[in-house]
Amino acid sequence: MTEEARKNHWEHIYKTKALTEVSWYEPIPKTSLETFKSFQIPKTAKIIDVGGGDSFLADSLLKQGYQNITVLDISQAAILRAQQRLGPLSQKINWIVSDITAFKPKETYDFWHDRAAFHFLNTKTDIEKYIKTAHHSLSEQGLLSIGTFSENGPKKCSGINITPYSEISLVEQFAPLFSKMSCSTYTHITPFNTKQEFTFCNFKKNK
Ligand SMILES: C[S@@+](CC[C@H](N)C(=O)[O-])C[C@H]1O[C@@H](n2cnc3c(N)ncnc32)[C@H](O)[C@@H]1O
Repeated sequence: MTEEARKNHWEHIYKTKALTEVSWYEPIPKTSLETFKSFQIPKTAKIIDVGGGDSFLADSLLKQGYQNITVLDISQAAILRAQQRLGPLSQKINWIVSDITAFKPKETYDFWHDRAAFHFLNTKTDIEKYIKTAHHSLSEQGLLSIGTFSENGPKKCSGINITPYSEISLVEQFAPLFSKMSCSTYTHITPFNTKQEFTFCNFKKNK
């Protein structure tokens, strides 16, 4: 899929589907919040949620007192929706509209979070760009948390082919630039009462 086709696809999704009409809707991002807790991510950490869309992670992190949150998404419409929902609180967040494969970070981050965006990259070139950008953008002690559909999960999301990962294949994909700290599997229940199995892995950056 070209960058332009990707952009058009996601703008269309966010302009035509309501918050609860998308399979990834998750009012409480439990697994992601548990990661923040288990790694004791400081409230001052610079966090980026890649492909954050209009997810509730930013809302939850603001409530917990996180002070430096960036949400990046390819879709302007997704970001506008999140901003409207948050109202004045949205000013506490840095918003970036960009395709992650073209992202040129202007600062470093301490924590890179991605739930269900990385798995849309299906070519070696795009995957390599993503991993290099994540490596380059993270501070020395930076952590990376990636959630993808597992090998037992769906093969498509929002009508697009995804690349599923097991714990082993996700760890292999991010080596040697990142090393595994922990992985888990969880089942997301969609608003349509269907199940989607995810692989979530947390990594530290290697030099
Ligand atoms: C399945 S949704 C997940 C949204 C959010 N992370 C969540 O968990 O609710 C995938 C998101 O990734 C964004 N996305 C897809 N491809 C992207 C890319 N190449 N660069 C940046 N964002 C992308 C989409 O616009 C969408 O918001």
